[in-house]
Amino acid sequence: MKVLVIGAGNMGLTYAEGMSKSKLLKKKNIMVMDKSDEKLNELHQISHFDTFKELKDCVPKADIIFVAVKPHHAEELFKDINLLVTSDQILISIMAGVTLDAIQEFSGINKVIRAMPNLPAKVGLGLTSYVASSDISRIELLTIESLLNTTGKSILVSKESLIDASTGISGSGPAYVFYFMQSMMEAALQMGFSTNDSKVLVSQTFTGAIELFNQSNLSPNSWMEKVASKGGTTQAALDSMDDNNVNELIKEAAFAAFSRAVELGKEN
Ligand SMILES: NC(=O)c1ccc[n+]([C@@H]2O[C@H](COP(=O)([O-])OP(=O)(O)OC[C@H]3O[C@@H](n4cnc5c(N)ncnc54)[C@H](OP(=O)(O)O)[C@@H]3O)[C@@H](O)[C@H]2O)c1
Repeated sequence: MKVLVIGAGNMGLTYAEGMSKSKLLKKKNIMVMDKSDEKLNELHQISHFDTFKELKDCVPKADIIFVAVKPHHAEELFKDINLLVTSDQILISIMAGVTLDAIQEFSGINKVIRAMPNLPAKVGLGLTSYVASSDISRIELLTIESLLNTTGKSILVSKESLIDASTGISGSGPAYVFYFMQSMMEAALQMGFSTNDSKVLVSQTFTGAIELFNQSNLSPNSWMEKVASKGGTTQAALDSMDDNNVNELIKEAAFAAFSRAVELGKEN
């Protein structure tokens, strides 16, 4: 099986690296194409991927075409790809807001996956949600799942609207966590800790809490009850958050990202 990654940017290279580190594919079966000479030169120095500047030299060789260019480059790219593809090729797109229908119509490929990754894919802890066109077989889905899982975990969603919804949770979600971390670090600094100690206090607290959560079947609410005792320090903090409606505000923020993903999809 040969995979072609189009777009050697942040995300394209993250997936190319993820696939190359897994046992799924040999490095020689991963092709990377980018229109920028600068990117290709950089790539020659840091990787052993087969690199290409012209679509005609790589698209016909690929079983799976992984598209990782910005959404506003999609139209131009699909126009060029259209002339080179065959009906048995599979296209995986991670472009935000570009719909299955649009990809099928403009690329000329029917077997399409639309995926939404997130940034922790860079360290192998990403979450990719994806939806498949009806032309993709079960066996092909298994292969795709394995490819996506080389950067973390993946979830196959039943309808396309859930891709925009997952943008509001996992796609933008790492930024919500960083927002919370930033607030806690600022509080630690104000309490008198050094910058370095503030960072350790906060990052180890997040790592520890997430590990506890992952190693149990308990809900976050149950874990909160375990940490908090009546009249204690944690309860004081949780009461303060409830009084300030933090729970509702976080949900509102997630829905704001969801709505923006829908809007961007319409613009595209
Ligand atoms: N970054 C994230 O966290 C994230 C999360 C979810 C989804 N995504 C999606 O991932 C996609 C890629 O994002 P990114 O941050 O990796 O973008 P990026 O760093 O800008 O990389 C895209 C690369 O593709 C190249 N390119 C553009 N048009 C091309 C064409 N027709 N043929 C070949 N190469 C082409 C670009 O070259 P130039 O620079 O010369 O244009 C650039 O090198 C986007 O569609 C985005 O919506 C990203």
